[in-house]
Formats: sequence, structure tokens, C-alpha cells
Amino acid sequence: MTDADAAPCSVGVVVVAAGSGTRLGAGLPKAFVPLAGRPLLGHAVATVTRLPGLRALVVVAPADLNDPGAPEWAGVHLPPDAVVVAGGASRTDSVAAGLAAVGEVDVVLVHDAARCLTPLAVFERVVEAVRAGAAGAVPGIPLVDTVKTVDATGVITGTPDRASLRAVQTPQGFGREVLVAAYRSGLAATDDAALVELAGHHVVVVEGDPLAFKVTTRDDLEHAERVLAERAGPAAAGLPD
Ligand code: CTP
Ligand code: MG
Repeated sequence: MTDADAAPCSVGVVVVAAGSGTRLGAGLPKAFVPLAGRPLLGHAVATVTRLPGLRALVVVAPADLNDPGAPEWAGVHLPPDAVVVAGGASRTDSVAAGLAAVGEVDVVLVHDAARCLTPLAVFERVVEAVRAGAAGAVPGIPLVDTVKTVDATGVITGTPDRASLRAVQTPQGFGREVLVAAYRSGLAATDDAALVELAGHHVVVVEGDPLAFKVTTRDDLEHAERVLAERAGPAAAGLPD
């Protein structure tokens, strides 16, 4: 897929884009909502296709929107050998569908289309950590707020040391066989890393990036619009020079 096909480590990326985007409430699945004139998914795919060693790209789309010829896909530039599969009711189901289509690669990255501005360097750090021997690697950033644990009535039960906490992002990367086995285990977890942790593997955190934030609400979409407008220059952003 890229000239790095000759690289010793082949990488498959599963981009999950099958969510409905309820919290964004844009009237169409979130990955297809336009951001600076192209769908969120188009931004995510544009970064993924620059990844050295990319051997396979699987996009997991909503079952009723999995034809890349549909008008909603305009601005999503898929490599010719990319595969599009239908997602499921939960993100876990969607990742499983993508994993089943990714083929024989050394490393699989699972990435949220909704984290559409994640820089290429984050992908590269994740791949590098797995290539260096970690069973899994996820990008994370330190927390700015103090975090409390609470009981069901809202009473605080603890204040974890913030220095030991990270907010994690995607792409999350794993040896393919490790992730496939973790999914086969039938365990339930809140993210892919947790599944692999539950299976007893070491997963490491690599440096994330604030730009890997997830577009969840209208405010997040506006933030993403501002980031791209500022990147395009002061005139495009409507700011004084
Ligand atoms: N996702 C998916 N299949 C699902 C649910 C989520 O592929 N059944 C994907 C989304 O498309 C998104 C990522 O998982 O790229 C993270 O999910 P989230 O931010 O929760 O997106 P949505 O589920 O679409 O949003 P909401 O929860 O507001 O409905
Ligand atoms: Mg969701």
C-alpha cells in the first residue's frame, strides 16, 4: 500500500466509523459529518494512508452507509485495496467486524474516526512501541484536573494520585494475534487496551497528543473547525493578521 511495504513490520489499521453520533446530533452518522468540507472519516483516512508500513486499511461503517460510492463518502480518499465492512450495535462489535477483515499483518491499530485530527506522529509512536515488543500500546496524556472516585450516592471514596493517571486516546495498537485472541475471549471491557490487559498482557502508554481528542459534541466539532481554520492561516480563520 505504501513504499514501506518492504518494512519488517506490516501494519493494518481498523478505522471504526459505524457509530450513530447521538451526542453530536447532526442528523447523520458522526464519521460522515463534514469538517472543513470533508467528512471526519476523510480526515482520519488521510492521515492513516501516510503511515509507513501500512499493509491493510479497513473502514467499519454503518450498515446502511457502507457503500463508498455513496455521496456521504465524498472527500474520503480510500486507497484502492482498502476494505469497507459494516459495523455493529456497539463499538466492540464494530472492532470485531474490522478485525475479521484485516488479514495477516504483524500489528493492528484500532482508531476512532471521531479522533479525526490525530497527528501521524501518534500513530508512529504506537506502532514503534509494539514493534519494540509491547503486546499493546496506547497514546495517553496527563490529566489536568484532579480526579475523584465516588460511590453510588456521590460521596468521594478516593483521590487517585494524578501523576499515575493518563487519559487514553486512539489509535490503540497490538500484535494482531494478541488482539484477535482478546476479542475471542468474550470478555467485556471499555476499550481495546482493557481487553488485552484482562487477557494478562502488558500494554504501554506512549505520548498522546491533545489533537487526538474525540469529536463527541457540537463544541468539539467547533474546536476542530477552529484548529483547521487556524492551520489554513489567519485569513481563512477570519482572524486579524
Ligand atoms: N463506533 C462504531 N460502532 C459503534 C459505535 C461506535 O464504529 N456501534 C465508533 C464511532 O464511529 C467512533 C468511535 O467508535 O468513531 C467512538 O465512538 P463514539 O465517540 O461513542 O461515537 P458514536 O457512538 O458515533 O457517538 P455517540 O456515542 O454520541 O452516539
Ligand atoms: Mg458511542
